[in-house]
Amino acid sequence: MSDPSTEPVLRAVGLCKKYGTGDGLVRAVDGVDLDVATGETVAVMGPSGCGKSTLLHLLGGLDRPSAGEAWLAGRRIDRLGERALARMRRTGVGFVFQAFHLMKELTVVENVELPALLDGRSPRTARTRAAELLDRVGLADRARFLPSALSGGQRQRVAVARALSNEPLVVLADEPTGNLDSAATADVLRLFEDLHESGQTLVIVTHDERIAATADRLISMRDGAFVDETRLTGGTTGNLGALAGLDG
Ligand SMILES: Nc1ncnc2c1ncn2[C@@H]1O[C@H](COP(=O)(O)OP(=O)(O)OP(=O)(O)O)[C@@H](O)[C@H]1O
Ligand SMILES: [Mg+2]
Repeated sequence: MSDPSTEPVLRAVGLCKKYGTGDGLVRAVDGVDLDVATGETVAVMGPSGCGKSTLLHLLGGLDRPSAGEAWLAGRRIDRLGERALARMRRTGVGFVFQAFHLMKELTVVENVELPALLDGRSPRTARTRAAELLDRVGLADRARFLPSALSGGQRQRVAVARALSNEPLVVLADEPTGNLDSAATADVLRLFEDLHESGQTLVIVTHDERIAATADRLISMRDGAFVDETRLTGGTTGNLGALAGLDG
């Protein structure tokens, strides 16, 4: 842990999230250990209800674990107070959701600059950065449009630009192509590939094999736990199922 260059940017240790009690108890996340290195892209796949979104929320400080630890850049985040946690989310994490979650009354450029403004940047700095990001996602000519005037794929590219506003340590994407047709998926796929190549650390929950194939590592999740892990670039193939003593 003493060498910052090898310290994982994102770390989970024995992470658990339970909902309900007694017969209604759900172990949404059930003992997840995860290290994500700087610049790494990790894809998480698994059946509906296996805990993927809950895990992303715990990793990004949108939710607190029932047990275990979540770390971002060497800082334990699950025990931060509300204000410190909100600040950490604003500056350290960029979220991309399946349903885009853009502010519909704000123009495209206003949506993208909002996180920087909320973090106290000057309007001018925030606007300049937003314009650069819109250029990067290929939507400079849509800056003054309302989100309702954009296609689904364009909306998601705006959401990605917004997620990058504060140069986050990590981008967490929850089924970013889940609402998109195949052509729009291809656009968003290219954008994530571009982010990956530029060294952005990414964790992507996806049902889409094409998105998963762009990752360095593919993790399979089932019933709140990691059951298999495949390294897609370099390294060796691990099998968490074997480590956990599961069959197959
Ligand atoms: N707020 C909540 N209260 C109670 N149970 C919840 C809550 N949020 C999630 N769960 C339960 O936790 C489990 C994991 O849910 P989660 O949304 O993380 O799954 P998921 O893998 O993202 O599924 P999907 O692929 O459908 O998005 C599910 O059984 C779900 O019903
Ligand atoms: Mg989900």
